[in-house]
Amino acid sequence: MKNQVLKLLRQEEGFVSGQELCERFQVSRTAVWKMIHQLKEEGYEIEAVKNRGYHLVSVPDLVTEPEILSCLHTRFMGQNCVYFAETDSTNTQIRRLAEEGAPDGTLAVADFQTAGKGRRGRGWTSRAGEDIFMSLLLRPQMNPANASMLTLVMGLSAARACQEILLEKGCQEQIQIKWPNDLVWQGKKLCGILTEMSAEVEAIQYLAVGIGINVNGQKFPPEIAEKATSLCMALGQPLRRAQVIARVLYYFEQDYETFLQTEDLSGLVKDYTERLVNLKRQVQVMDPKGAYTGIARGINSRGELLVEQEGKMRQVYAGEVSVRGVYGYV
Ligand code: BTN
Repeated sequence: MKNQVLKLLRQEEGFVSGQELCERFQVSRTAVWKMIHQLKEEGYEIEAVKNRGYHLVSVPDLVTEPEILSCLHTRFMGQNCVYFAETDSTNTQIRRLAEEGAPDGTLAVADFQTAGKGRRGRGWTSRAGEDIFMSLLLRPQMNPANASMLTLVMGLSAARACQEILLEKGCQEQIQIKWPNDLVWQGKKLCGILTEMSAEVEAIQYLAVGIGINVNGQKFPPEIAEKATSLCMALGQPLRRAQVIARVLYYFEQDYETFLQTEDLSGLVKDYTERLVNLKRQVQVMDPKGAYTGIARGINSRGELLVEQEGKMRQVYAGEVSVRGVYGYV
């Protein structure tokens, strides 16, 4: 109910009367007062005026369940939301929740991760209260061989969401995708995605799609300081993380549905390719069978990077290789 009260206060520019809250949620005046008091304790600034009611003046930057749910405009994605002030890894928590029977679209979100996981066995650092660490539980009925493409779907959805937010705040510069799924702004990494799967030979049990977005952080550990950035650094002002989360989930729900129709990226290739940072540029493909360079020409409907080498088009599968620009990270 707290999230519904918050949603109502958010929608109303003026005051919402105590009477309306009581009637709408079928609770006593004391219960309403207690909830408003709780919200104030959590950092929400709420003006209370006799005979007029309550007015939401300002909202803290929280990623708690009521804050996220009150921002969310999705049908099912994130509607079951589990918040951790601190946890090892939201991907690990999603796996646990999945084993316990949590529904499709469940979101695990943390303010701080003590053992964040990155791709290729690397870690993912975090500082409390600054960035987004979240994972989605998906239970698609499809061939496990197609699951890795969902990482690209999430990359595209996150790019759409972050781009729209930057544009709304007056920043025109494009957010790009470094294949397969890093988001970059001015050549620096803004976001990373890690998908983990539990499957049998022919059926997926569940997927954990984890995404880390640098939102308000401005100082990074020395080993990544040169190649990392955040939305706040792009904009020159902080953002509320719950709004970014809600926007990412909004786009992901749509892109996920498009993906499921064909179980491939054919409906998303165009939008993805437009954002590709290395498009028409020279890249270095770090293939274990031998590195080579070529020109990136886009992706195909399987999410493979198309690299033109000596007039021949090679299809690069993300699982096997990494791709870099010839001059460094992008
Ligand atoms: C990468 O290496 O680029 C992928 C990083 C993925 C990090 C996110 S943060 C939320 C989720 N939980 C994790 O432990 N990892 C992912």
